[in-house]
Amino acid sequence: MPRSVGRSVRRKDGDDKVTGRALYIDDLTFPGMLHGMTVRATIPCGRIDRVRPAFDTTGFVLVDRHDIPGRNVVAGIMDDQPCLAVHEVRHAAEPIMLVAHEERDALARVHVDIDYTPATPVFEPRWSSECFKSLVIEKGRLDAGFAEAYTVVEGEYRTGHQEQLYLETNGVIAVPEGGGMTVYGSLQCPHYVHRALVMALGLQAGQVRVVQAETGGGFGGKEEYPSILACHAALLARKAGRPVKMIYDRAEDMWATTKRHPSIVRHRTGVTREGRITAMDIDLVLDGGAYCTLSPVVLSRASIHASGPYRCDHIRIRGRAMMTNTPPNGAFRGFGAPQSQFATEVHMDRIAETLGIDPVAVREQNALRPGDTTATGQVLGEDASAVEVLQAAVRKSKYHEKRARWRGTGKGIGLSLFFHGSGFTGSGEVTLASKASVELTAGGVRVLVSSTEIGQGTRTMHAQIVADALGIPYEVVETAAVDTAVVPDSGPTVASRTCMVVGRLLQRAAGDLKARLGRLSPAAYFAAHGPLVVTAEYEPPPGAAWDEQAYRGDAYGSYGWGCHVAEIDVRPDTWAVQPVRMTAVAEIGRAIHPMMATGQIEGGTAQGVAWALLEEVVMRDGAMANHTLTNYLIPTAADTPRIDTVILERPYAHGPFGAKGVGEMPIDGPAPAIVNALRHAGYDVRAIPATPERVMKAGRL
Ligand code: MOS
Repeated sequence: MPRSVGRSVRRKDGDDKVTGRALYIDDLTFPGMLHGMTVRATIPCGRIDRVRPAFDTTGFVLVDRHDIPGRNVVAGIMDDQPCLAVHEVRHAAEPIMLVAHEERDALARVHVDIDYTPATPVFEPRWSSECFKSLVIEKGRLDAGFAEAYTVVEGEYRTGHQEQLYLETNGVIAVPEGGGMTVYGSLQCPHYVHRALVMALGLQAGQVRVVQAETGGGFGGKEEYPSILACHAALLARKAGRPVKMIYDRAEDMWATTKRHPSIVRHRTGVTREGRITAMDIDLVLDGGAYCTLSPVVLSRASIHASGPYRCDHIRIRGRAMMTNTPPNGAFRGFGAPQSQFATEVHMDRIAETLGIDPVAVREQNALRPGDTTATGQVLGEDASAVEVLQAAVRKSKYHEKRARWRGTGKGIGLSLFFHGSGFTGSGEVTLASKASVELTAGGVRVLVSSTEIGQGTRTMHAQIVADALGIPYEVVETAAVDTAVVPDSGPTVASRTCMVVGRLLQRAAGDLKARLGRLSPAAYFAAHGPLVVTAEYEPPPGAAWDEQAYRGDAYGSYGWGCHVAEIDVRPDTWAVQPVRMTAVAEIGRAIHPMMATGQIEGGTAQGVAWALLEEVVMRDGAMANHTLTNYLIPTAADTPRIDTVILERPYAHGPFGAKGVGEMPIDGPAPAIVNALRHAGYDVRAIPATPERVMKAGRL
């Protein structure tokens, strides 16, 4: 039996997608279906005095907050966001009313007058009086660390919003069925949507069913947002007694949905004359937008990664996620780690410059190694590969040779070293208690998980793991459609956990199934005994411990390690920065499917380069002024540099076949590598996106 793990087998979802057979949410239709839309606020902050439809409502279904049978809340971490505004408007895209009609075009006639008493909005997170979450991570004693220092390097670094810009916008269809509700949608996390519907509709869990349609990308942007959209469609469908489809066009999707949290990070770092870090004092502020959403977990991951992949005995990291009057920010690939490590890695080059030490040498000296402890006190295992990825990237890119040769030419080369924890933070995986099942069928085996295929290769990768764990051909392993009425809750499809955590559950379930089969083949067992389902439930790695109060312990099961090198060209007349080549080295434990893993690294790198140079959300009065693709720029092929990818494998004992996560990590590194390349080219940039205007204004070095 040829093993499938480690081979780039044919994708499970490939044929249907390239032939057009795959059905996305807008391809689906139901008898009697209406089209729904959202009436939104027009001011960022204030009190609603009166809402009055100012159009002929004949033939329309209207829903306002009085039509909500359950709690008027989008289930989340804080349950602070209403499905429909009550008296208060907190952001300019706040949903106020819902409208549906048989004809999609009729929705253009909808006009609602809203009277407000405006209040003063807050757009600067540091001035906000409302904090969604704050935390402190402390290791050692800062004063002792600074006492050892030869000098202290300080700096402040900023990153902007970023739009996930999945190919397919957010969309759902709600179908009222037998007193309950079924929602189909473009989704990352069907069980989150399920929970939200139960709460808002006031139904029993068994009366709500959520089914994922084929989904055109997520990047975190379909992690939480579909919960509010599904509630809206379901409220309309309930009132109409008919199915309701709600699909955002690109402008509404950009205007209203979550984005990456902007960040402001300040570093004070004590270093010896030789470049050893003695103390790290880090202050991190995230702009949460108007409601809490996932800000606490984004802050948590940002903070834990804020000291970067470096050893230091004396660390203090203070993090805050603040409320502002813009649409809520939320999950986006990396969950805050790209923001915090941007600051760390730009700061590292400034430390190197201050001391007159080579940027590689300062990183090599301080890099975390097996047996070292992180900021939370986690002791790293043998798969701590910071030094290896750094050396591999430096070698592959010929960093030193180019750095010497390019001085004063307008070209620049810069690097970044980073790490990324796989899976939920702290005790998150224990709380989730995820389950995954394998089912014996007449023709082979079926995978039952709630992990969604959103383009990243879930179905393929899970089938590979199950095939090899059972010793059966990859081709006979099927994956069930994600339907909350059919699959167990394997947790959300987020946080680089789908391979390492859910894949491991499947490996264990398949191992148990294999033991049950004994000497029989799957087909022979099925013929003799009929169907069989085997389920595995999450168990933490032995000895793992996390103290949520003190923020200490094993923050993640394991970490991936990465190093990026950016090569750029700065146009002396326009200050435009052309990224010429990226070298991306990633240590991910084991590449289950090398081609898809490479695709994740290339995609994350391209998205990170765009965050660094192109993607600029312009907020005007608390709303995105450039919410179209004509002026919110994402990279075309011509803007995307050549990417040289190197995958290193140091197996993690508790990952499936040694695998760790790969989805998020590649977006941690590109932005600081590019800004460090700008520094090499002579520009002192501390905020991204590094648009030509910013580069022009940056101090010359
Ligand atoms: Mo996410 S930011 O979808 O883990």
